[in-house]
Amino acid sequence: MKEINFIGFENVVNIESPGRINIIGEHTDYNNGFVLPTAIDKKIRFKFKKNDTVNHCNVYSKNFEAGFAINLTHIEKSKNQWENYILGVLFEIQKLTKKVQGFDCVLESDIPIGSGISSSAALECGIALGLNELFELELSKKTIVELSQRAEHHFVGTKCGIMDQFASVMSVKGHVILLDCQSLEYEYVPIKIEPYKILLLNSNVTHSLASSEYNTRRKECETGVAIIKQKYSGVNSLRDVSELMLKEFKTVMPPKVFNRCTYVIEEKIRVLEAVKALKNDQLSVLGNLMYETHNGLKNLYEVSCNELDFLVNFSKKYKEVIGARMMGGGFGGCTINIIHSEKIEEFVLDVSQAYFNKFNKKLTTFEAMPSEGTIKSTTKYYI
Ligand code: GLA
Repeated sequence: MKEINFIGFENVVNIESPGRINIIGEHTDYNNGFVLPTAIDKKIRFKFKKNDTVNHCNVYSKNFEAGFAINLTHIEKSKNQWENYILGVLFEIQKLTKKVQGFDCVLESDIPIGSGISSSAALECGIALGLNELFELELSKKTIVELSQRAEHHFVGTKCGIMDQFASVMSVKGHVILLDCQSLEYEYVPIKIEPYKILLLNSNVTHSLASSEYNTRRKECETGVAIIKQKYSGVNSLRDVSELMLKEFKTVMPPKVFNRCTYVIEEKIRVLEAVKALKNDQLSVLGNLMYETHNGLKNLYEVSCNELDFLVNFSKKYKEVIGARMMGGGFGGCTINIIHSEKIEEFVLDVSQAYFNKFNKKLTTFEAMPSEGTIKSTTKYYI
């Protein structure tokens, strides 16, 4: 498919949908715990217009220089995974409303794919918000978040939690979101860390098993909950389990399951401690918690990899890096580092060289700015 022409069209809907970082609280969302994410200044930009057909839609990605057509009466999974994020959202929207008709959409992204900053949620939520605007569907932000998550479960096959979609849609500039993934209650916490900055180191490792391993971790947690529930019937998720309770099951649970549960329960506590530290300007406390999280993800949850471990270890050489850890689902992607702004240049040079020497791979680095969630603008627009 050729790129879609928007020149001269009025009433084009423009959407910007961001990727996210997560300060702390990894693999806690689907365990009904807490997370601390925010959208960042890396985005997918979309343009939408109606094409005056009833059922025919065209979507074109500038990055892939490829597009595909969709017939709204037959929305089925595609062999091309990136298309499934879009098809899944359309499928979920069709279940809620029949108001969507033919449309054209072009998108362009500066979010590195597979880097753990959730280009997938940005894609899902951007499509959902764009259609919401174009066809005046009147879906709430919460509905957009939830339908995007379902799209990922059913069309992509990753049984993700709600963090990424929530952060992509709900974020507010200069803040992180303390989200309770059980009640979906949330609080915006200002992130005032100057002269420190958030630096991401992208290992450029993507693991083909990431999605299946992710689903396995989720199942292992569910197995743990089922075992605990035999004695404590009121327990519905690891949110309801204390460290003390879990210890009772050490000899009963398969060791891996016990380790997974231990990590999640410890991480649940760390998020709340991190928020306290952030509110009290105790950045070194926050940094130590991040290092602890990395240890847990590496040793107990086993979702790290050599490259990420190397990057986190290397950061410890610099006292100006007050905390670092792998971020996101794992098996590759980025580490998140809190670093004094004056040291960024030197650190980036040093770690990039060391990384290349060790793995013969290029490191990509960028600063992440806590930014606003998915934004719409329905102004007349000519390109
Ligand atoms: C992925 C998922 C999220 C979350 C993180 C790990 O990004 O999409 O729901 O589980 O992994 O914290």
